[in-house]
Amino acid sequence: MQQTHTNNDNQPDANTTGASEEHNPVIEVQNLSTCFDIDEGELRAVDEVSFTINRGEVLGVLGESGCGKSVTGHSIMRLIQKPGRSDGRILWHHQDGSVEDLLKLKASGKRMRSIRGGEISMVFQEPMTSLSPMHTVRKHMHEALMLHVPGITKKEADERAIETLKLVGIPDPPATMEKYAHQLSGGLRQRSMIAIALCTSPSLLIADEPTTALDVTVQAQILQLLKGLQSRLGLSVMYITHSLPVIAEMSDRVAVMYLGRIVETGEMSEVFENPYHPYTQGLMRAIPRLDRESGTRLETIKGTVPTPLDMAPMCGFCSRCPEFMAGTCDTTIPQLREVEKDHFVRCFLYE
Ligand SMILES: Nc1ncnc2c1ncn2[C@@H]1O[C@H](COP(=O)(O)OP(=O)(O)OP(=O)(O)O)[C@@H](O)[C@H]1O
Ligand SMILES: [Mg+2]
Repeated sequence: MQQTHTNNDNQPDANTTGASEEHNPVIEVQNLSTCFDIDEGELRAVDEVSFTINRGEVLGVLGESGCGKSVTGHSIMRLIQKPGRSDGRILWHHQDGSVEDLLKLKASGKRMRSIRGGEISMVFQEPMTSLSPMHTVRKHMHEALMLHVPGITKKEADERAIETLKLVGIPDPPATMEKYAHQLSGGLRQRSMIAIALCTSPSLLIADEPTTALDVTVQAQILQLLKGLQSRLGLSVMYITHSLPVIAEMSDRVAVMYLGRIVETGEMSEVFENPYHPYTQGLMRAIPRLDRESGTRLETIKGTVPTPLDMAPMCGFCSRCPEFMAGTCDTTIPQLREVEKDHFVRCFLYE
């Protein structure tokens, strides 16, 4: 049974990151936290993250390895396995105007299964592990279509599958349909994954590092493909990557994550030209030339991201920050504040 909520009840920190009156949100993530209990303590992979993605918009989620990008995507898809847990609200806006909090749904229930892969699809970081080695491309697409398009016949599913494989630029769709993942080149495998994700016509695509495993030329082709599909289909996209040049090419807005928190967010061009957070500035400095080829790893900020275990109330970046202020940055968590119109930063330098 569908739960509907209106969107104007008591919501602290609600539209801090991107939603405004004139926009048309497809998803509003509000104060999302996802934790795992591990032997060493509580690991807070995602910490009070809020953002909005509007219809037809690309939000880039940027940050180094371990900062919580994938866990954010998996939390939206309700793929976090117990004893992992998510708190907050994930408000999904249906086409008919009703709004549903995905965190109130049972992860394995009918309603969530219909949204997952139907209204929200994800292209996963590991193409080989997210495609079953036992299934052909046809079988993957049939399963998605049978689940999400009630009453579809096998013939119609085949037609839809071929149409979608053509859409993603696969040269011989009928032959590709019969292939298993290991029989496809990296580029064709990723195109097939995108086709499987899109065959159900979702409103939101979560693309998690979709080009990492590919060589540079194929990466560029897949980025072009996603960009073209996004504008042709009017898709909303959450594009996850550690690569600033890729984010700059793909996104309308960006959310920079560090240690489970959003530290800076705003219009891509604004953040790119005018980064405020020392972490974002560090990422920028790690690119000697802005026209450098896409997909280059950004690993030149001094030190590494700590593990978000039993975190003290402090700025997560303080152990690496060139602007560190003792007694301030290591005693309190800075809040995300608007420093320019629609440009938010979580840093004591701007408090
Ligand atoms: N199932 C899990 N159990 C315990 N810890 C987890 C689990 N999944 C992720 N984590 C931890 O949560 C944190 C965030 O992980 P996440 O996979 O979201 O990082 P990421 O930003 O996607 O990194 P990468 O760029 O390497 O993909 C990491 O410290 C990771 O070790
Ligand atoms: Mg990841």
